[in-house]
Amino acid sequence: MISKPKTMEGSSPRVYIKTFGCQMNKLDTELSIGSLAKRGYSFAEDENDADVILLNTCSVRDKAEHKVYSQLGSLRYQKERNPELILGVLGCMAQNEGEKIFKRMPHVNLVCGTRMFSKLPELLEKITESNKQILAIDEDGEVNFDRLVTQRQNQYSAFVSIMRGCDNYCSYCIVPYVRGREFSRSVTDIVDEVKGLVDDGCKEITLLGQNVNSYGKGLTGKVTLATLLRELDPIEGLERIHFLTSHPKDMTREILEAVGELPGVCEYLHMPAQSGSDKILKKMRRQYTSAHYRELVEMAKSIVPGIKLAGDFIVGFPGETEEDFEETVKLLNDVRCQNSFIFKYSPRTGTSATELIDDVIEETKKSRNNILLELQKRISTEENKKMHGKSVEVLVEGESKTNAGRLIGRTRQNQIVVFNQPEGINQAGTSSSLSGKLVNIEIVDSTDLTLFGDLRDFSFNEMAH
Ligand code: SAH
Ligand code: SF4
Ligand code: F3S
Repeated sequence: MISKPKTMEGSSPRVYIKTFGCQMNKLDTELSIGSLAKRGYSFAEDENDADVILLNTCSVRDKAEHKVYSQLGSLRYQKERNPELILGVLGCMAQNEGEKIFKRMPHVNLVCGTRMFSKLPELLEKITESNKQILAIDEDGEVNFDRLVTQRQNQYSAFVSIMRGCDNYCSYCIVPYVRGREFSRSVTDIVDEVKGLVDDGCKEITLLGQNVNSYGKGLTGKVTLATLLRELDPIEGLERIHFLTSHPKDMTREILEAVGELPGVCEYLHMPAQSGSDKILKKMRRQYTSAHYRELVEMAKSIVPGIKLAGDFIVGFPGETEEDFEETVKLLNDVRCQNSFIFKYSPRTGTSATELIDDVIEETKKSRNNILLELQKRISTEENKKMHGKSVEVLVEGESKTNAGRLIGRTRQNQIVVFNQPEGINQAGTSSSLSGKLVNIEIVDSTDLTLFGDLRDFSFNEMAH
């Protein structure tokens, strides 16, 4: 039985959590929802109905922090209307800004850093009892991995953290400062967690880490991402395994061979290049050259047929000339990512790149950003056209919100597929019976981001392997 904290007897406070930033943050939100539910909290669909509003935040670019400050600003009015409302800032920006958040936003009750998530229920109770502001930032605190498996947003799919923190200190990046040192979880813990998730109906997992290719560092024996994938793949009922993010400096043939051989491991690599210029890569402290990146992509394509690549690029890094940028354009053109995340360089206080002058003007950053976005859009559109007439395996998520009457799912390469149901089949019945199943869809049309197709054969593929 779940016991409620004393202060909550009678009614359970409703929490609303808004998540910014990367998948790691989405996972922290999921884990927090689990631990709060265990302590008797319930959850509001809308922030206006909440007794507790928590913002799980990101610091990776200045814009991400701005967004949170502006939301906190507008929440002031809500707090004036309802002084009992508890307002909390969690995660990377809480870790990064600390006390400053209270100074700028005195109506905030809680600032809870990246290593204090597991204490969230107690911290909220303390605030309810004492009505004091709490700053909870611990540089060495334990990172929480506990999970209440039944509390997930998507029943069929889950994130699983295989490591925390980052030791790479790329010169532009704040993540090592807000997330701490790299730490790998044991294979047994991960396997147990995945088994629990599969027993709970999960078909697909995404292994998370800032640099999953260095998984195993610090563990005893020879443990690598490849060995972990080999342990996870045979788990009965687990259909798909994804992993991200891959760092080119630690990618190995052994990992790619595991991806190629293991039926459950999906043919998809999120491997950020950041730049195509060796001069800039060096200043970024990425520890590889663009030639090495190209070799890895060639190796991946030859070992894993049909593999698709996603990349991150930063434009306008200090000292990036037109020629440097052209090399990035050339790299993207050559490796042909399926999709890319493209960012304008944003100096972060405390990182070593702030010693360099941020000399690429905003207008140039914007135009380089647009050039890469356009190029990526063209490549994605062309690559998707090549899929027309082909049949792809889709994990069905449910009804499409934007295309009435159609269903939506994802391919093994993480592409969205919107598809028609076979004629003569009760639509509501089909969508509920197909959700969480693997089906084969024939692709007939596409845009840069979406594939459209038909489910021709209703005898779906229960087991992928
Ligand atoms: N661990 C991942 C990325 C984490 S941050 C990796 O190493 O690939 C996600 C992306 O944000 C990075 O890949 C980078 O492209 C971008 N990024 C990080 N710091 C940035 C900054 N200061 N300015 C602009 N983009 C940045
Ligand atoms: Fe940041 Fe580099 Fe670590 Fe990725 S590998 S989180 S870009 S320091
Ligand atoms: Fe992720 Fe942003 Fe933190 S990218 S690790 S939420 S700084």
